Amino acid sequence: MNFTRADFPEGFLFGAATAAYQIEGHGFGGAGPTHWDSFSKGPGNVVRGEDGAVACDHYHRYEADLDLLQAGGFDAYRFSTSWARVMPDGRTVNPEGLDFYDRLVDATLERGLKPFQTLYHWELPSALADRGGWANRDTALAFADFSEVISARIGDRVASTATINEPWCVAWLSHYLGHHAPGLRDIRAAARAMHHILLAHGLAVERLRGMGRKELGIVLNFERALPASEKAADVRAADLQDQIYNRWFLEAIAHGRYPEGALEGLAPHMPQGWQDDMRLIAQPIDWVGVNYYTRSLIAAAPETPWPSLTAVEGPLPKTQMGWEIYPEGLHHFLLRARDALGLPVHVTENGMAWADRLEDGRVADAERQGFVADHLAAARRAIADGVDLRSFFYWSLLDNYEWAFGYEKRFGLVHVDFETLERTPKASYHALKSAITR
Ligand code: FCB
Repeated sequence: MNFTRADFPEGFLFGAATAAYQIEGHGFGGAGPTHWDSFSKGPGNVVRGEDGAVACDHYHRYEADLDLLQAGGFDAYRFSTSWARVMPDGRTVNPEGLDFYDRLVDATLERGLKPFQTLYHWELPSALADRGGWANRDTALAFADFSEVISARIGDRVASTATINEPWCVAWLSHYLGHHAPGLRDIRAAARAMHHILLAHGLAVERLRGMGRKELGIVLNFERALPASEKAADVRAADLQDQIYNRWFLEAIAHGRYPEGALEGLAPHMPQGWQDDMRLIAQPIDWVGVNYYTRSLIAAAPETPWPSLTAVEGPLPKTQMGWEIYPEGLHHFLLRARDALGLPVHVTENGMAWADRLEDGRVADAERQGFVADHLAAARRAIADGVDLRSFFYWSLLDNYEWAFGYEKRFGLVHVDFETLERTPKASYHALKSAITR
């Protein structure tokens, strides 16, 4: 790769990210059912109806997986702590679940890696989904209790805690577009989830601050929304998409307000008294995480209901997900996040899926090496432009359960054979290692 550690500021952290439901395996160790277990069984929801029951079996293999991080020269590990493992019904504590994360954090530290914890990476306990999940305000209150329980056990040793991973996915993708659990296409549920997920963030930050915890933040996903043409209607559509996808969350956290155009469509469906929560949502945090993958080209779609827009196919080279490769977008959002919040920024996820093939014990993923190099170059440009960028986490350490795409899409630096669960570091793992250990 075309960089070394010396090209980044002193203390810059290189890491890899994972999430509990995508790698651990579920349904044992006292863990309770989640809405992904049931969503995956609905017709057409997930490729081949696959779920996270086995995944990478990381629950039993975490030590070997952490060895891979250490051997790769990484500084930090971003993982999530499953609510349904710690509290199987969303409320009652499962001591085995707490013990697992206790061992995981110690094993991370023993290898000289900084533990970056995420509290919610999508596996909502089914018992809470039964009561309306994120459309129900009570879920946000229960989330604060979960945050306290898990932090009481491991919060003394983690380097940083993120409340929510990608609120847009939790709310809009899951309740309006129907692509993720609970698979709703319901504007009222979506509006409520758009607010309650931020309320959950605010309540958790308040609770953790009260416990004296530091380095609290949130992980937002950003996608550049560009107009599909110069037509005024497409320009307006792209702007509205930017409001719903990007600005809704950033402005709520930075300024305690929602962007006007997005609110115009959602206001009739918002929970009563939402305005009273905005101060809590905008309370100070210590850092913001940027997850960045791609851009989209947006066109007006006047024949469809509000927001009356659609994404059209773009001309750039694409990953296995069909996502256009657009590193400039990372530079754009690192500056935007800094400008909005004036805080240290972390790249908490960036990476690509590719139809990798294991041949003669090797995976030659030149495309991924180019992708990482180009995005790290965009990150360096943001640093040169004055962004206080602290880290870069590649998504993901392992090939894993890619939600609605099942095990089909491979994002890992390490190849996983889902029959034998054997791990094989790809060429990109070796290339990144030599760049950051040089
Ligand atoms: C992000 C998610 C992560 C993974 C990557 C590809 O939206 O946070 O779990 O699915 O995309």
